[in-house]
Amino acid sequence: MIIYLERQPLTVRAGSTVAAAVTLTRTSCTGQPRAPFCGMGICQECRMTIDGRRQLACQTLCREGMQVEPSV
Ligand code: FES
Repeated sequence: MIIYLERQPLTVRAGSTVAAAVTLTRTSCTGQPRAPFCGMGICQECRMTIDGRRQLACQTLCREGMQVEPSV
């Protein structure tokens, strides 16, 4: 299946979470790169803009054509 990460197509396995498909999820307020840490919805390090809404990448399954952007 194809999702779009920063408008670039990315092939992912069906049933994958967005967190499993990406490496950088957001940048901190000081510009440091952040990535998924806990994988279970607690740390909030995987906040991303997914189809225009702030969501946790580790709690969101990939869907065909999904638009994914890192968050600040
Ligand atoms: S990785 Fe911790 S909330 Fe998603």
